Formats: sequence, structure tokens, C-alpha cells
Amino acid sequence: MSSHPTVHAPADPGRLPTTLPGLIEKKRLGDPIVMVTAYDYPSARAAEAAGVDLVLVGDSAATTMLGYNATTPVDLDDMLVLARAVRRGLSCPLMIGDLPFGSYEVSDEQAITTALRMVKEAGAEAVKLEGGNDASVRRARAIAGAGIPVMGHVGLTPQTSTALGGWKAQGRTAAAASRIGSEALALQDAGVFAIVFEAIPAAVTEELMPLIDVPVIGIGAGAATDGQVLVFHDLLGIRDGLGPRFVKRYANIQQEMNDGVRAFAEDVRTRRYPGPEHCYSVDPGELAELQGQLAGRSAS
Ligand code: KIV
Repeated sequence: MSSHPTVHAPADPGRLPTTLPGLIEKKRLGDPIVMVTAYDYPSARAAEAAGVDLVLVGDSAATTMLGYNATTPVDLDDMLVLARAVRRGLSCPLMIGDLPFGSYEVSDEQAITTALRMVKEAGAEAVKLEGGNDASVRRARAIAGAGIPVMGHVGLTPQTSTALGGWKAQGRTAAAASRIGSEALALQDAGVFAIVFEAIPAAVTEELMPLIDVPVIGIGAGAATDGQVLVFHDLLGIRDGLGPRFVKRYANIQQEMNDGVRAFAEDVRTRRYPGPEHCYSVDPGELAELQGQLAGRSAS
């Protein structure tokens, strides 16, 4: 699949696309960077209309879109379908394709091949991978070396949450916090353009921030980061339950969807839908002719 996806006109024609130097400049100025996940055309259009800086086609799609209870099952082909739909809805935000579990760990060659597919087949402008151990740092270096901007991700890394002891905050001891700092520095040295800090105590983030030169985007990492990201479905309430502690909910779309479909079902069952305003008309003469034809057919 190599056809290039259509890119939509910007929601705001005066707005310039996000660039990597632009992100550095925002960090320098202390101008908060806004990132959100998107997984399809409508979520991309919402991100575009809101004027966010970065859109991540996150492997959280495994849970938000595909109904898995972890991110590990989603594969590259799933991600490419979603990323192409997002691409069609975006113009100004920089689009980052998340590399799913199993698509980059095996070798530098595998990581570069996967990242190239994200760029060539889905139109991603950058990719993200998880972890700051030696292997992840090598993969980040290899991808950046191939000319593809890469974002790192430290702290709670959902793809390896089992190894981390579960879905919980990271860096709560001095040793663990210091390890996160070393991982972020190693990723920076490998050439990442930005790093996600996930589920890290705010006070730890504050201590680490002065060490990091690239933009840091936080999710559950306090207010000291250069930007914030939330999962689209979490911030809009397109999910059952409240989600992690760090989520702030700005809408309750799941409830709206439930209510809407329930109202439709009720209207159908009580024959309130469709009403005359939902029906097509036909010329009375044509209708009379049809009635004549049908009457003739049933008589013969
Ligand atoms: O997949 C995802 O949504 C992410 C964000 C939480 C950063 O990695």
C-alpha cells in the first residue's frame, strides 16, 4: 500500500503547520504544547479544529478503539489503517504514529522498517516508541539516524506495564526516579525530538525537567512539563468508568452516545421514526402508474 493519503485543508487557513523547530521555540518561550491522541477521521478533525500542536495516533487505540484490555495486541497493520484515517483529517498538527509492541524491539532494521511504513503508508511525520532501556535507546537512535523524527516515552510505558509491576505511577523512589532521568537523557542523546513522561510524581518531574533540553510532554506527570497530552477517549468521556487519576474529563460523550442510540431505538419501536420529514417524495402520477402496474400483476 503506497498511495499517499489526502491531507485536508486547515480548519484555520491562517494557521501554520507545527514544525520541530517550532516545538523547541515553544519550550524556550514556556508556551505550553498541546498534544492529543486521535484514531480516526472524526477525532482528527476535532484535534485540527481545536488547533492542537501534536496528534499522536496512539497504540492506546487497542483499548479505546478495538476493545482490548491492553495495548500489546494491536499490530502495525491495525495502526496503519487508523493512522491513514487520521492523516486524512489533519493539516496543521504534527502527526506522530505510535510504534506498536513487537514492531521495533527485534532489531534496528525492524525498527527502521516499521517507522518507514508509518511515514510512507500513513503519512506520519514522526513516530513514537516506548522505553528508555538500552534496546529502546538503540532503536530511537537508528530511527532518528534514518531521518525520521522520533519521540521517546518514559515512566509508565503501557506496552511493558507487566514488567513494570502493573499499571501504576513510576519513579516513586529516588532510585526509580533517577533511572527515569537517565533514560530520558539517553533518549535525548539518541536524537529524540521530544519525550513523553507518563505517570510520574509531579515533584519528580520538577526535579528532572531542568536536565532535559527537548520538549517534554506529560500525562499524569504534573504541571512542570513543556506540554500535556490526554487520550481522546479519556478527555471526552468516550469510555466506561473514570479512567486513571490524571484524567480530566471535558465531556461525557459515551453517555450522549448511549442516550442517542436508546432514543433512536425507542422511536423505531414506537413508530415515531421515520416521520414525513425523513421520507422521499414521488410524483403522484408516477405513483398512480406504479399502483396500476402492481394491481395488474396481482390480478394475473
Ligand atoms: O498510546 C497512547 O495513547 C500514548 C499516550 C498516552 C502518550 O502513548
